[in-house]
Amino acid sequence: MLTTVVSHPLAAVRLSTIRDAGTAPSQFRAALRELTRMLVYEAARDLTVRPVHLHTPVAETSGAQVANSPLLVPVLRAGLGMVDAALELLPQAQMGFVGLARDESTLQPSAYLESLPESLAGREVYLLDPMLATGGSLLRAVELVQSRGAGPITCVCVLAAPEGVRAIEQSGIELHLVTAAIDERLDQRGFIVPGLGDAGDRQFGAV
Ligand code: PRP
Repeated sequence: MLTTVVSHPLAAVRLSTIRDAGTAPSQFRAALRELTRMLVYEAARDLTVRPVHLHTPVAETSGAQVANSPLLVPVLRAGLGMVDAALELLPQAQMGFVGLARDESTLQPSAYLESLPESLAGREVYLLDPMLATGGSLLRAVELVQSRGAGPITCVCVLAAPEGVRAIEQSGIELHLVTAAIDERLDQRGFIVPGLGDAGDRQFGAV
């Protein structure tokens, strides 16, 4: 497991807005979108590009185009707020969708939506979920894409708890985690501390 913590002043500013309990949902969504752009930018650092020949207004030169866009898979609900920014950077990307809800008492995730291409044989996948808490949801999402043959998996998360990072390490699953911060711990309710609360509720309201 490779972990990249994106440390950048502009990312820290957006993360502070997202953490602040006084941030309104519209501002939260805007900051999440901007921060996601930075995280996906970093996640795509090793993306394969192929050379293209092109003409500038002045001369001929060579450039680059994305060889194979990864499949973007937001984990609903909260991952929906990361879709626009990821698509802006990877406009040719196809999308899949996974819906997972974590039981508030057992903290176990249950899948209520799985909309993915039948075969993902060897395809690179970016899972988008703002929160990695116990790691149960992300591991379930990884299982769903791996069962269809997915290739390299990158998990783009705004925040991670050390417990969730350990759970992924202990699972032995190879993936790249890209996050803006690894926080202190989980509390008794399974919330990340200091965290940002419930990323789904803060974007869309409590259900
Ligand atoms: C949150 C979050 C992750 C999950 C993290 O979703 O967006 O998907 O919990 O917790 P875990 O690492 O302990 O599994 P939630 O289940 O609250 O659903 P929501 O996105 O619909 O709010």
